[in-house]
This record gives sequence, structure tokens and C-alpha cells, in this order.
Amino acid sequence: MPPTLSTRGAVHAATVTPFWSIFEDLLQNPYNPVTRKGRFVNMGIANNSLMSDDLLRYFNSHLQLVPEDLTYGSSLFGSTRLFAAICKLYNSDYWSPHEPVRPEHIITAPGCGSLLDQLAEHLADAGDAFLAAAPYYNGFDADLATRANVRCLPVYSDMGDGAERGSFEGPTALRGFQSALDAAARNGTRVRAVLLNQPCNPVGRCYDREAMLEYGRFCEKNNLFLVVDEIYALSVFPTSDNSAPAPFISALSIDWKNDAGVDPARIVIVSSASKDFTSNGLRVGTLVCQHNDSLIRAMKATAKLAMVSSAADALWSALLHDDAFLPWFIETNRQRLSDAYETCKAWCMRMGIAYTPSNAGHFMLVDLAPFLPTTLDGTKLNCEESETALWAKFLDHGVALTPGFNYHHPKTGTFRITFSLERPALEEGLARLERALRAVGEAGGDAAAATSACAEGAHSGARLGTGAILCGIISACTGSRAPAADHDSAIHEGLARLQIAAACSACCC
Ligand SMILES: Cc1ncc(COP(=O)(O)O)c(C=O)c1O
Repeated sequence: MPPTLSTRGAVHAATVTPFWSIFEDLLQNPYNPVTRKGRFVNMGIANNSLMSDDLLRYFNSHLQLVPEDLTYGSSLFGSTRLFAAICKLYNSDYWSPHEPVRPEHIITAPGCGSLLDQLAEHLADAGDAFLAAAPYYNGFDADLATRANVRCLPVYSDMGDGAERGSFEGPTALRGFQSALDAAARNGTRVRAVLLNQPCNPVGRCYDREAMLEYGRFCEKNNLFLVVDEIYALSVFPTSDNSAPAPFISALSIDWKNDAGVDPARIVIVSSASKDFTSNGLRVGTLVCQHNDSLIRAMKATAKLAMVSSAADALWSALLHDDAFLPWFIETNRQRLSDAYETCKAWCMRMGIAYTPSNAGHFMLVDLAPFLPTTLDGTKLNCEESETALWAKFLDHGVALTPGFNYHHPKTGTFRITFSLERPALEEGLARLERALRAVGEAGGDAAAATSACAEGAHSGARLGTGAILCGIISACTGSRAPAADHDSAIHEGLARLQIAAACSACCC
């Protein structure tokens, strides 16, 4: 008899569907703007290559390991060197903390995702939930659920699609939260925390101070933790749509007790080197909690199983300690993000595509509803499937975007475009996207019907379902396209097994 996995192991194994091979394929065949080879321009993942040349030069000339780096180091939850570097960063004007951040407030791990995974374990029990305003970063679902079995419940505002000003400013930012909490209670789900992404991925905007205070008050009133993900804190930039965007306000800068009557023991801040330091691969995440010793102790129990590599620690510490390079890096990154944004915006305007102005992060949301297909091989598509079919069309043309259902975006047909690519790759990606959209346009289809049919699905909360079109996509992506005769049956037979939403969420960033 073959050995069997635990029940938990079997559940995890089942989530790794063939869909993941698409994602692997994307990562393994990136378009190279110099050689012009590589199959995919990846505009679906929040990767920022705008600083790569400068950062590589810096890192390759600044790696300085010491004997301690070949041991278990000076602490199991970071190193004294890294703690000092992180304290320097957080105690700077970028964060302006109300109280100085000290080493004992910090836990490190290989990425923000790892810290969220650990936090879910410590703040909630299996079956409990966190609330997050929709649309939200697709990784939250998997980070909270994979091990801790904690759900992230999307909160929909009744003001619009969640990208409008009111969702980021003042008390209206909390519209929808009380009813989401009440609905969870009616369903027997215990909510333990609110997850606030400041600035927000995928909208690309900052919350103002009053909105943050309101988040805190809501958590105080309902006895919840407030977990603030500040991973895009330094990636706020001016644009031709907003020359003076709302600045990043850190949860660390707020006097929670006196300004909002909030117990500061509720406040937890996570971030990492991935986004603001354009180093997704470095894998260094930070958690700061200044007023909750029991949470820090619980984190220590799990963080020692997920230590940061000493090489990554040495590199990031060098960057954070560099008083000349760091400010230049942060400022230049912002300027390049602005330039890339303008390129993407100009493309949207030329194509007549509506976009949601952003001014933080690496991306903008665009409305591709007019291009959604309604049927595939004679099968009528639901909202999620139609987004997936368009996404597959993009892959066919060698470019990846992320469909809005991944972010629980309430308006079907919304996609997130990452624009933080070096200029030649960005231009190539947009050119491929244009070819794909023109091909969809030429193929015809009842776009208006698609849009209105899908709009009905908005806010239904029923957007996560089982996809029915992925086999064809997988075979297209892996180059093993099924022969025409098999195409339909491959689609219908295989797709019932594939949970696109879950897989897609698990695979995109
Ligand atoms: C808002 C947000 N939080 C967390 C993460 C995960 O970051 P890390 O690479 O540090 O695990 C991402 C990645 O895209 C993100 O956008």
C-alpha cells in the first residue's frame, strides 16, 4: 500500500492543481528586454524592476559577511545587525513613529507573507476570520488560510467599487465593516482582526489619518486586532492625475490611546524588503508590535522555524544603514514609478480604456469589461470564467495581467496592470496587450451583454467558484495544446477539477 499523507497534507496537495504549472511557466520564461527572448511579459505580479541595475550593483559590491553569519547568529528572530537597521528605518522621518521602535518590538521572517501566516495562527483559531476592505491583495487569502485555516472576508463598500476617495478618507472608509461583522456573526464565524493595507494593493492609494483612526476605533469597539500591512509605504509617487497624492501615514506614527481611545496592544504592523526595496527575492519581512508582549512571545515560537538567511540580512542591513544611497534609492524609485505610470496611463488613453488613477505601489486597475468574452467553445461563461478566458487570451499573446476576481474586486472585467517594468519590457508588454485586445475585438462577441450579465454578479460574494476553462489554457501555456478533437472534452473534463480562484490567488502576487 502506498504511504498516505495526513489529512492536512492531502488538503494542501489538492490545492496544488495543474494551474500552478502556468504560474511556474510564467516565472521560468520571462521576456528579456535585451535578448528579446522569453515568452511572457509578466505584468500580473507586483515585481518592480525599475531599480534592478542600480540595486544589483549596490548589493554585489556591499555583501560583507562576518563569522557570525555562518552560525545561528545573534538571535533566532532576526539578528542584532538587522534589528538595528530596521529600527533606524522605522525611527526615521519616513515612518515618524509616535514611540521609538526598539529591537524587542520586532520579529523578522522570510517575507511579509510568512509573518501573516504566523500571525493568523496566533490571533485566530481555525475557522475564524479577518476582515479586509475589497478589493484587497490576493495573497491575503492564502497567507491566512493555508496553515492557520483562517478566512479573509472581503468587505464591500456601498459607495462604489472600493477604489473611490470615500473608501480611503475619514469615517466613510469603514462603510460596510459593521454589516460584514454582523453577517459573519450570523453565520457563526468569529472575526478576530481587521487587515488594513496602507497603501492599498491593488488600488494604489493611501488611507488618510482619520480613516486609520476610524479603523482603530472599529477594532476597539469590537475587540479586534488591527493588522496594518505597510509594504508599499515608500512607493507613493506624484502623477499627472494627482500631483500631490495623500502621503503615507504609518500606524506607528499614531498615538492610538490618546488620539482614538484605542488600546495599542491591538496594533500590529507588517512589511518587508519586497516592494519598497524592489527585492521580492531577498525574503526579509518585519513585524513590529510595541505593546503586546504575549503576541511577540507567540511569534517567537513560530519565527524560529522561519528565520531570515544571514546573507539576505547582511544585504538589507547594508542598504538600510547607507545614509547616502538609501535616500537616493527611495527618491529615484518614486520618480521611475511616476514615469512608468505615465507610460501606462498614456497607453490606456490611446486605447480608450478606463483606468483607476493610482499613486502608490506598482500597478493600476483598468476596466476591460468591454473585452470580456461571453462564451468559450459554445459554453456560456460566468463572470469569473469570462475574466479567466480573457486572461488566457493575454497569455496566448505572451503577456500576463491579474484578473479582478483575484482581489475580490466587485466589478467584473477589472484587471490589475503592473507597470514597474523596465521601459523596453513595459512597451513590449503593452504592445502585446494591445494585440490581444484587438484580437478579442475582431473576434466580436456580445460585449455589452457580457458586461451587464457580469455586473449582476457584482457584490454577490459568489465570485469564487470552480472554473471550467483551464485545461485549454494550461495546454496553451505549456505548449502542449490538445488536439482540436480533444479540446472540448479536455476543457470540460479537466476543469471541473480545477479551482481557479483558489489556485489563482495562491499563485499571484
Ligand atoms: C500587500 C502585500 N502584502 C504582502 C505581500 C507579500 O510580500 P512578501 O514578498 O514580503 O512575502 C505582497 C506581495 O505582493 C503584497 O502586495
